[in-house]
Amino acid sequence: MTGDAAGHYERLAARFEENWAYSPAFVAWMSGCITGRLRPRTGDRGIDVGCGTGLYSRVLAEHAGSVVCVDPSAAMLAQVPDGHGLLPVRASLEDLATGAVSLPHERFDVVLAKEVLHHAADEHAALRTLAGLVAPGGRLLLVMLAPVLEYPLFEAALERYQRSPADHDGIARQLARHGLRAEVSTASFQLAIAKERWLTMVADRWMSVLTKFTDAELAAGITEIDRRHPGPVLKFNDSFVFLLAHRPF
Ligand SMILES: C[S@@+](CC[C@H](N)C(=O)[O-])C[C@H]1O[C@@H](n2cnc3c(N)ncnc32)[C@H](O)[C@@H]1O
Repeated sequence: MTGDAAGHYERLAARFEENWAYSPAFVAWMSGCITGRLRPRTGDRGIDVGCGTGLYSRVLAEHAGSVVCVDPSAAMLAQVPDGHGLLPVRASLEDLATGAVSLPHERFDVVLAKEVLHHAADEHAALRTLAGLVAPGGRLLLVMLAPVLEYPLFEAALERYQRSPADHDGIARQLARHGLRAEVSTASFQLAIAKERWLTMVADRWMSVLTKFTDAELAAGITEIDRRHPGPVLKFNDSFVFLLAHRPF
């Protein structure tokens, strides 16, 4: 993980779920998006790479029985609940690539990497590593934010986010080179968040793109959001791209 990302998640860990889980309805929706695509079955070997606090490792483990939870941030991993079939392993994608950290299994039936690929130092190497974890008959799910955000952020942040869009078709082609067949789908959830809470999340720089702005720029951005969005509740679509890949037997 880059130095920036490392500091970012160590700092955010204590409030990560408060900021990222949005609402129980959102977590239930996202859990369904994940399990509906990955189809974890009892006895499957599961792994969640860049698992954070294990928010979605838990739902995989409920179906599969056991999930290896991999994250380079000690503070994030410390919040993965004990038991529930969750096995935390402190490692980055890069550590897995070099073999600096070894895993309890070489191959897994279900592999989840949600909102982590953009943190990889080398996307090609990260995709090779993730593909290498998939057993014959196994599935890999990459979950990414949509290339255009409908978030009520300030203009400069939206523009900055859109500067480096993920190339989903290119990712699918790379996975194909590693023997996986990939398909891309999208889904959206309509969030309703109290403006006060949203502005606190922005001030917390909960999204990594917000770390690119100085304190003064962020303060001006928050004023801009507040002005543009009158009313106490913000409603907007949270849209995701799901790249599901499977390795034939
Ligand atoms: C946006 S959070 C997503 C956490 C979790 N997947 C979720 O959706 O709740 C990104 C996570 O990726 C981890 N991360 C950052 N760089 C990474 C890397 N190079 N390899 C693996 N994980 C990384 C961070 O520590 C953080 O927990």
